[in-house]
Amino acid sequence: MSKKIVVLSGDGIGPEIMAAGLQVLEVVNKRFAMDLEMTEYPFGGAGIDSSGEPLPHKTLNACKNADAILLGAIGGPQWDEAPHRPEEGLLALRKALGLYANIRPISVFDSLASLSPIKEEKVRGTDFIVVRELTGGIYFGRPRELTDTHALDTCVYSNQEIRRIIRKAFEIAKTRRKKVTSVDKANVLATSKLWRKIAEEVAQEFPEVTLEHQLVDSAAMILIQDPRSFDVIVTENLFGDILSDEASVIPGSLGMLPSASHSEIGPSLYEPIHGSAPDIAGKNLANPMSMILSITMMLRQSFQFETVAKVIESACNEVMDQGILTKDLGGAATTSDFIAAVMNELKA
Ligand code: IPM
Ligand code: MG
Repeated sequence: MSKKIVVLSGDGIGPEIMAAGLQVLEVVNKRFAMDLEMTEYPFGGAGIDSSGEPLPHKTLNACKNADAILLGAIGGPQWDEAPHRPEEGLLALRKALGLYANIRPISVFDSLASLSPIKEEKVRGTDFIVVRELTGGIYFGRPRELTDTHALDTCVYSNQEIRRIIRKAFEIAKTRRKKVTSVDKANVLATSKLWRKIAEEVAQEFPEVTLEHQLVDSAAMILIQDPRSFDVIVTENLFGDILSDEASVIPGSLGMLPSASHSEIGPSLYEPIHGSAPDIAGKNLANPMSMILSITMMLRQSFQFETVAKVIESACNEVMDQGILTKDLGGAATTSDFIAAVMNELKA
């Protein structure tokens, strides 16, 4: 039976990098007879334009029935004044699908280490994963109020919500260098005090994994000072949002970074970490690597197509080693030049 992949290209550079990624995916789909079937649905600003909603009903239904979801990027200044913003669609989709575990790997490609704004000798060899809780905390807590005289957001976490994300982090660490850094603000926040207590409890279940705690402010500093000291970072929704953008600076370009979001059961969603980059949208300048690597994460984590993922990644590495790089990496290749070179490597 074919595997149904819902494609949400979204806004800005989303459609360009998605088209580029799908070109590569279609080639390996045929060659390895993976029987993947890709169908596009409107989402984000594109959803607002087509039906007034950032997450149209048809799109949500298709996502619920999919085997996996690929998302490009959403948002743009044209929807700033709209009654609904594209971002609402993304939050609603995460909640509706229960996508609580957001996995954001940060690694520095050897050949690109000199492009980092941080000293090369500090970043070379960096390889860690941010595990961000994605369906709780201040993003979703109620009450939420906004008037001219006061505003209120609520940060809520239940014991179970904390336990399942921390377990996820330990399971990942078990397969890596066996170190979990749990990031909180336990010197101030109640949710963080509970977080830290549960992290200690979960650590008992994984004696082979070391647990350390870091306060979020100090973690933000160590990320730049000594990024190689991290293996798996686990943290709550808002801290994870901020720290993963900070971490994305380390490899030299946001354009290289993929992510996966998993639920307990049901389809996972794969998307680049970056936004829709309206300033370069439609100019054929975007780096499609973040999308391609999101696709290889999907092939591994949703379908166990390890070999196919490796074939794609080595083709891309070969191309980058030849110095065919997009503008964000200091090169002159357009999105389509880059993809043409990858297709050539794949002998497509
Ligand atoms: C992210 C983004 C989203 C978030 C926005 C677009 C709502 O910044 O995926 O990191 O804050 O979660
Ligand atoms: Mg973010």
